Amino acid sequence: MPGIRNAKRFYITTPIYYVNDVPHLGTAYTTVVADALRRYHQLRGHETRMLTGTDEHGLKLEREAKDRGLSPKAFVDQMSERFREAWPKLLVETDDFIRTTEPRHESLVQEIWKRVQANGDLTKGHYEDWYCVGCESFKTEKELLEGNVCPLHKKPVERLKEETYFFALDKYQDKLLDLYAKAPGFVQPESRRNEVLSFVESGLKPLSVSRTSFSWGIPVPGDPRHVMYVWFDALSNYWSALGGWDSELAARFWPTDADALPTDSADLTVVHLVGKDILRFHGVFWPAFLMSAKMALPSKVYAHGFLTIDGQKMSKSLRNAVDPVRLAAELPGGASTLRYHLLRAIALGQDGDFDHAALLERYNADLGKNLGNLLSRVLGLCVKNTGNTAPALENARCTDLERHFLTDVQRSLTSAQQHWDAVEPHRALEATWAASSRANLYVDQAAPWAEVKKGDQARVETILATLVKVLEHLSVYIAPALPDKANEMRAQLGLGPIAPALNSDLLALDFSDAPTRALGTASPLFPTLDAAGQAALLERLVPTKEPVMNEPATPFETAVTVVGGAVVESIVAPITYDQFAATDLRIGVVLEAEKVPKKDKLLKLKVDVGEAEPRQIVAGLALSFAPEALVGKRVVVVTNLAPRDFGKGLVSHGMLLAAGESNNLSLATVTAEVAPGTKVK
Ligand code: MSP
Repeated sequence: MPGIRNAKRFYITTPIYYVNDVPHLGTAYTTVVADALRRYHQLRGHETRMLTGTDEHGLKLEREAKDRGLSPKAFVDQMSERFREAWPKLLVETDDFIRTTEPRHESLVQEIWKRVQANGDLTKGHYEDWYCVGCESFKTEKELLEGNVCPLHKKPVERLKEETYFFALDKYQDKLLDLYAKAPGFVQPESRRNEVLSFVESGLKPLSVSRTSFSWGIPVPGDPRHVMYVWFDALSNYWSALGGWDSELAARFWPTDADALPTDSADLTVVHLVGKDILRFHGVFWPAFLMSAKMALPSKVYAHGFLTIDGQKMSKSLRNAVDPVRLAAELPGGASTLRYHLLRAIALGQDGDFDHAALLERYNADLGKNLGNLLSRVLGLCVKNTGNTAPALENARCTDLERHFLTDVQRSLTSAQQHWDAVEPHRALEATWAASSRANLYVDQAAPWAEVKKGDQARVETILATLVKVLEHLSVYIAPALPDKANEMRAQLGLGPIAPALNSDLLALDFSDAPTRALGTASPLFPTLDAAGQAALLERLVPTKEPVMNEPATPFETAVTVVGGAVVESIVAPITYDQFAATDLRIGVVLEAEKVPKKDKLLKLKVDVGEAEPRQIVAGLALSFAPEALVGKRVVVVTNLAPRDFGKGLVSHGMLLAAGESNNLSLATVTAEVAPGTKVK
């Protein structure tokens, strides 16, 4: 096929996510933005590729697996699936999903290591410094808070001393500064670029890139006592996923000239989209590793800001409480509504707040009353006046009203394209919606119903044909953010689904004459929520600030079943006996109980479950029980639940079973003096 190979190419990556966590709104944000940018390029007729995956090595994961009583491999296998399953539910389409424990990755990382070594950039030595396991990164004393606490994870760092390979990062200081100067677009946005610049200007030191004190990593070639530093391993995924030096994919999606500066105008653009928390690794370490291995650099590292949820920082318990997949399923308009809000409400690059109430407001205003209403109005008028067809568009019959309208629409949609190109989705969507608002205004100005009354059918047809044409364009322009709704809209307009093709620009503006066409069946694209519906949904969506009980990260889905006339709640999916038996339930005796300062619902308990030491269990019982009323009680404890961190060192090692509302709970217990530690079957 001629022309195919000369289409512009666009390769976008998300960070590969640590599997000690489940997909949350923060990781969903990066992934959705990357997907929308990729879809935009696809619509332009570019050859695109998107990569995501999971980061599965390192001390943090080795420890987490141990805490859960699993082998690291079993643990990462299980957790990686959560990410693989989540993204399609947010309408994210990736071409590949890489896991750093895959042989295809491990062998290529070892090859990169060998090239860095052959370049004389690795030296064995000893290292001693502070290390934050949460960041998987060494910290200088300057970076730490009082008491040697990591400012990001708010946990004390550890002192590490061991034999290590050092990478000569200092050797690349000038080369990196030269890169930032000559390719100013390499780190974006500008404010982040300045951060990277000042970090490098303040002086780079050799970087420890191997570890000997644990083994969950990729062995260093020729020295298997060492495993590679997890960031050396992880960053290489962007390249290893393309299949290595001889692969056709790498030839298409990774620049080949190691001496060339990354540019924006090249035929190939490679963008690493990352959160601001990991900019240093991508903007400094990764290009230095690539320079050392004599490999070409990506075009751009784009750092976005951080989200808060309803004004609160995303602590681990809060962010896990907002499951993006569940949220998308609950929203009217589904995943597209969530995507639209994430892309539109937060200025990419800046920190922003994910506010549930604002999400519903935006749904009603932008999707329901603006775009959805425009579509319904126009299709309704066509049903009444043109036999449900889009009349032929004949420019010769247009008046100044249409010409001004189309000029404004063209201006807004051109600006939307420019904003997508500039990696500003929020502005691109703002401009797209400006076109939709302008169309609603035009309906009012042109007042087709008045022309119907006058019996001027030709004028009615000109107005409706102009509107349908604008709606056709809008159906494509909304697609990066709302892919399924774009196609639903097109079906109503009598058009087939969007089918991107190489070198064909589906965003090209075309308001030339068009023949008449049959329309599809109209139905509200975004039915608006009334105040009561909005309030009820908000009530369901907004996570309680404190857990009622020590809930698992993903609560069981429940459904209402009618049994013998009584309504009971039951778990939707039946489980096997083996699945049930995987939950270790034991009898415990409460030895101590006290309130947790500043937490109204929580009690801190010491519970004897038949082990050498009693367990600390934090439970949401305080609204139902005075602490002293619990001492001596026999309770049923889930003992093999992963520990749950409530912050400030308060960790719960188990969960009690109880029934009822949080202020009227009844504890599950036994009827005889069963010994602590006895299994409940
Ligand atoms: N494994 C590393 C990345 C290696 S890439 C070679 C890692 N993983 S992570 O699971 O911690 O994911 C971090 C990314 O998640 C951030 O860079 C950011 O993209 C996203 N976010 C995590 N919390 C976030 C918010 N509160 N807000 C926005 N994005 C957030 O770091």
